[in-house]
Amino acid sequence: MSDGQFDIYEIQNIIDDLRKKIRYHDKLYYQDAQPEISDFEYDKLMQRLNNLEQQYPHLITPDSPTQRVSGKPLTEFKTVQHEYPMLSIQNTYSKEELFAFYSRLKKLLPDDEISFTTELKIDGVAISLIYEKGIFTRAVTRGDGIRGDDVTANIRTIKSLVKDIKDKNVPDKMVIRGEVFLARKTFEQINKQRQEQGLQLFANPRNAAAGTLKLLDPRQAAKRRLDIIVYGIDTDLGVKTHFEALRKLKEFGFPVNEPFNLCENIEDVMVYCEEGLNIRSQLPFDIDGMVIKVNELELQKKLGSTAKSPRWIIAYKFPAEQVMTKIYDIVFQVGRTGILTPVAVLEPVIISGSTVSRASLYNKDEIENKDIRIGDYVIVEKGGEIIPKVVSVVTEKRDGSQLVFNFPKICPVCGGNIIQEQGEAALRCDSISCSAQLMRRIEHFASREAMNIDGLGESIVKQLVDKKLIGDVADLYALSAGQIANLERMGDKSASNLIKSIEKSKNNDLPRLIFGMGIRHVGIRMAEILAKAYKSLDALMAATIDDLMDKKEKGIITDVGDIVAKSIVSFFLSGKNKNVIKKLRSFGLNFKLFSKDIEENPFFDKIVVLTGSLSVYTRGQASRLIKELGGTVGSSVTKFTHYVVAGEKAGSKLEKAKQLNIPILNEDEFLRIINECL
Ligand code: IVH
Repeated sequence: MSDGQFDIYEIQNIIDDLRKKIRYHDKLYYQDAQPEISDFEYDKLMQRLNNLEQQYPHLITPDSPTQRVSGKPLTEFKTVQHEYPMLSIQNTYSKEELFAFYSRLKKLLPDDEISFTTELKIDGVAISLIYEKGIFTRAVTRGDGIRGDDVTANIRTIKSLVKDIKDKNVPDKMVIRGEVFLARKTFEQINKQRQEQGLQLFANPRNAAAGTLKLLDPRQAAKRRLDIIVYGIDTDLGVKTHFEALRKLKEFGFPVNEPFNLCENIEDVMVYCEEGLNIRSQLPFDIDGMVIKVNELELQKKLGSTAKSPRWIIAYKFPAEQVMTKIYDIVFQVGRTGILTPVAVLEPVIISGSTVSRASLYNKDEIENKDIRIGDYVIVEKGGEIIPKVVSVVTEKRDGSQLVFNFPKICPVCGGNIIQEQGEAALRCDSISCSAQLMRRIEHFASREAMNIDGLGESIVKQLVDKKLIGDVADLYALSAGQIANLERMGDKSASNLIKSIEKSKNNDLPRLIFGMGIRHVGIRMAEILAKAYKSLDALMAATIDDLMDKKEKGIITDVGDIVAKSIVSFFLSGKNKNVIKKLRSFGLNFKLFSKDIEENPFFDKIVVLTGSLSVYTRGQASRLIKELGGTVGSSVTKFTHYVVAGEKAGSKLEKAKQLNIPILNEDEFLRIINECL
């Protein structure tokens, strides 16, 4: 690199290219929830951009991906004081209470004409949004009403939220209120995935939304596809009514709480409240009532607030829908880790617009505490929960025909032993050859975050297991297109596509494989941490509890407690698991942190010696990059050296390389390799 001008253009190009790549992957991750690369690969792009920007600080731009909060996991949330306290609202549960609210208002404002708005009361998590000059700058949870958590990075992942208001005719600073929630469908998908991963299920969309807001890594939050609806503004928009304010918010591009209705009197309010109850089950998200607000902003001001809540606003809460039905039977679902979940089989009933024929009974304690018997009439409720639950038994309807449930002594699917670990409510099938567990394990192995085997759905897995074509995850790699094409609803084309995706998965990076193995307590995040710390499956297999704890103390791995460490070590001690891993190895799966793609780079398994100084990277950074590509950095040039990278003022090492005929790379060539391969 002799021409100084050219150098900087070259660097600028590399930086631009990296930023473009990162933005592209951000979009896939945050907006489409369909990432193409692993978190590990993403981190590497980010790290390279960071390195270059540190070297060339004048090339840092405010919109560079390195300059924003999202994309980087936080260690904790910042606590922020609300500009306007986030109060709660009064609740009513009947028409009478609603009329009493109206009477109170009339007493306080005898001479004023009051109109109202009615809105859906979304069952999510309250949020305060701050916009400066029309640009979204901060999102804070309600917290204790005075202070909340700064969850800006997670809120930024919400696709429907306007981040930059086009209409620049907005107040310099705006504080907007809304509700963050998860659509029912999304919630169901999240829980399905959690079930496959052996993780605890969220009880309802609200809990799932709250849990998501608390995730420290916005990239994880992005996958959960949160949504938002705004319902109020604390800033003066120059309008006279709440109704107009909502309209303005809509014009600014916010997803507002629709339908919002204007009511001239309290009777109209009642009509809309009833309508809300009627449309409740058809909405894509949960609502738990209606919110009624005095429409005139001047009257809102006159009414003011008590210490707890504004006087001009009230919620009309819907009752949780409860229906009586009969329990025909109690059956068990067997999960990936063998946990048996009891499920009540019900005489079908319609609750909140959908037919319910099953209710989770959670565990043994639940059945015993509520004394639920087969043949009992029970009250079933579908409140915030998507999975209906049995609230209570109608004991008056017992006629002696009810049967106390005898817990099975053997697994209803495979006949294996059932165990109950001390201190746990869960019953577990301990058979290693249980077909239900096997199915769940295969589904988990193939799932999107694990080995991402496209086309290996539930019904194919069931057929493969039932026909004994597979007995463990490794057997997938021995399947032939002919065997798959013979399955129900499969043809030659889909069979060949499935074989292709199975083949492709062999080159997946290590975190996917570790996660896919289904070690208890090891989620995708933990799998990534373990992969980075151990660099190969063989090294992880050899890890002892002491070794894991030692790495934890040194801060190399985080979040590994006793239980996780024991779970990892005992997984790899199991003879059956060892055998599966042996088979996976024989099929040529990638067991290393570096995937096959990376192995194809010129530095992989090579000894590289650095000499002279590079303008883009320090010696330490360049060494790290070579190591990332699987190379070794040598300190002196010998006949075993594969490459010498020669920067400015290279000295004797360069001479030695020339003597020994060792390929010499200049900085340009070195950068090209790094840029292409990392
Ligand atoms: S107005 C002063 N409008 O319900 C409080 N709240 O149970 C202003 N909520 O904390 C809130 N939908 O999180 C308002 N259309 C709506 C709402 C709504 C849901 C939530 C909000 C509030 C909680 C009270």
